[in-house]
Amino acid sequence: MQTADPLIPLPRLLDAMRLLVRGFGSREDEVEAVVQRLVEANLTGHDSHGIGMLPRYVSSYLEGGLQPNAGIAVEMDGGALLRLDGRAGFGQVVGQQAMALGIERAQAHGSCIVALGNAHHLGRIGAWAEQVAAAGLVSMHFVNVISRVIVAPHGGADARFGTNPFCAGVPLAGRAPVILDFATSVIAQGKTRVAHNKGETVDPGCLIDHQGRPTQDPRYGVIPPYGALLTFGGHKGYGLALMCELLGGALAAGLTQREADNGKKRVLNGMLSVLIDPGRLADRAAFEAEALAFLDWVQASPTRAGGEPVQVAGDAERAWRARRTAEGVPVDATSWAEILDAAARLGVDPAAVRVAAGV
Ligand SMILES: NC(=O)c1ccc[n+]([C@@H]2O[C@H](COP(=O)([O-])OP(=O)(O)OC[C@H]3O[C@@H](n4cnc5c(N)ncnc54)[C@H](O)[C@@H]3O)[C@@H](O)[C@H]2O)c1
Repeated sequence: MQTADPLIPLPRLLDAMRLLVRGFGSREDEVEAVVQRLVEANLTGHDSHGIGMLPRYVSSYLEGGLQPNAGIAVEMDGGALLRLDGRAGFGQVVGQQAMALGIERAQAHGSCIVALGNAHHLGRIGAWAEQVAAAGLVSMHFVNVISRVIVAPHGGADARFGTNPFCAGVPLAGRAPVILDFATSVIAQGKTRVAHNKGETVDPGCLIDHQGRPTQDPRYGVIPPYGALLTFGGHKGYGLALMCELLGGALAAGLTQREADNGKKRVLNGMLSVLIDPGRLADRAAFEAEALAFLDWVQASPTRAGGEPVQVAGDAERAWRARRTAEGVPVDATSWAEILDAAARLGVDPAAVRVAAGV
């Protein structure tokens, strides 16, 4: 995103997005959850998972893929082992509900495994690790994506799965938690669209064309004939992506990537989450002291010439959040036009959204 993009102050952006999301017919608590989580993705620097997703959500809703006002249904309750159906509801709502239930059970039993299937797009998975960490619990999340296939297996010449994210969170005593949260593709799908719109190329090693040849032309991620993104770290990222599909998809959701979804607008996520109370597994104070000592040791590594000081996972998002909360959120012209068009498709007056945002 270019720095020249207009900055929308946070309160105005929240108000404008509330207007739009009300167009889904959502109850007010759902409106608030969807708006807060999407804007939070922008605040933390992940524009690919922020308000720019709303046009896709509108298309999915109009096609019958996204179901507003659907809460989770408990399909199997084994105490510390839960299988939940997200009923194609907003991921911003069913993700929060699933983690709240998992937290309650992990606090009662020491740990809990939550299998969530059929959730509409869960957005930035780090939000769920943050919710769990705020309750003092460790968590791991393996996620699959049911949508158009866009990532090739290591050695493969075409796309066979999605950008399957992995996430883990560790709460710390008196310090912000460590939140590791990434897609298993080298770059996010949204980055090929941005590069294509700007007439730029993508870095080498990110993309192959429709015949499996390396390319830097982002069109192969955006318009047919499609190529495929590559996984990060060669066979290792591919292995993690595979596990996200097997654990988040086959095990948790009972649904893995299908060719039949290529033409649909819905984006479903399956998520297998493991929640652990460190105070029940071990001595909490000893764990916290050990974790802090290790992080201090790692961050004491001298900065490489020409590089940036060592960070830990979660630092980047906190820095973005502080900056954008103060300065406002940049929204590029293409995304903003798509958002206003999405409002119109929902029957919401785009002019009112524009006025609320002040742009
Ligand atoms: N719901 C879905 O279907 C879906 C699919 C794919 C991705 N996503 C989301 O997309 C978002 C973006 O993913 P991404 O792969 O582009 O993330 P990314 O490549 O920006 O990596 C982010 C992770 O790396 C850490 N990090 C960044 N800079 C660092 C540094 N210098 N040192 C140490 N750690 C550092 C961050 O704190 C964070 O944990 C994530 O929130 C992910 O959950 C969601």
